[in-house]
Amino acid sequence: MTVTNKPTRAAWLQGPSGRCETVPNGQFLPWRIVLLGAPGVGKGTQADLLNQRLLACHLSTGDVFRAAATRSEGELSPAMKEALGYMRRGELVPDTTVWDLVQERGACLHCAGGFILDGFPRTAAQAVSLKQFLNKDGLGLTAVVTYELPQSEIVARLGGRRTCEKCKAVYHITERSPKVEGRCDHCEGALFQREDDRPEAIKVRLEAYDRSTAPLIEFYRKAGLLLPVSAAGTPEEIYERTVPELEVRRLTQFAEQMWAAAENRRSGL
Ligand code: AP5
Repeated sequence: MTVTNKPTRAAWLQGPSGRCETVPNGQFLPWRIVLLGAPGVGKGTQADLLNQRLLACHLSTGDVFRAAATRSEGELSPAMKEALGYMRRGELVPDTTVWDLVQERGACLHCAGGFILDGFPRTAAQAVSLKQFLNKDGLGLTAVVTYELPQSEIVARLGGRRTCEKCKAVYHITERSPKVEGRCDHCEGALFQREDDRPEAIKVRLEAYDRSTAPLIEFYRKAGLLLPVSAAGTPEEIYERTVPELEVRRLTQFAEQMWAAAENRRSGL
């Protein structure tokens, strides 16, 4: 699948100083989606597909850290230097650091084009902060998609992942291999293996997911937002089984909002 017309996401990747060259068009009902799932389940791959078709930006906290890792030491704050250490080891970055950088990018969460959050929230504290932040401005989530896959397949996806050093496109050495080995199909950049895809870091990441992120499934189930989706099959198949369900959620929410507005008018509120 070719990625075309991707928003630059400069405001997300660089923070408040960044200016996006292309801003997604304001939508009648913006998509506000959270993607949950173990590391390597395919959240980033799905976020790219959702971004191309639903036109909401793919906002990944992992991408913010990886973008920071390409800067020189002198450009990084002490908190960011510390965060990159956690990431290399496969551990979660402390909540305060993560929330500070998400909050700095609050404009992205208010963007009229909506958003697809990938890798955030990842702990109960982050989920509560996000909820309070959105509630304050009357913004609700459309849905929280949780991708499900047996652990053995997750480990195989992570171990075979390769990323383009230039455009960051993601491949897999056997499942989604590039046309020329080691080179990106889109920009011919060299493909590399992420530092946290080494076996010892994968183990730490999967443990962190089970301990800190998996409990969010129940949090969002109770909130009536959870949409469990099997992550087996090709990226396209997974996408095709996700989108009709998302459409239903969005239209139901719209009908509920219209109903509540009509009720308020009737009761003179
Ligand atoms: P982050 O970048 O968020 O990594 P992650 O959640 O571990 O997820 P991944 O990017 O590894 O996997 P993915 O699910 O996106 O899978 P992908 O689509 O690439 O976070 C990295 C680190 O940053 C964390 O460990 C932490 O240190 C820190 N961090 C970030 N956010 C944080 C937060 N909120 N709080 C605290 N710390 C935070 O696919 C994987 C592979 O499978 C690819 O090779 C792909 O080509 C292949 N693939 C995808 N779909 C399929 C398919 N259907 N069939 C076959 N292969 C497939």
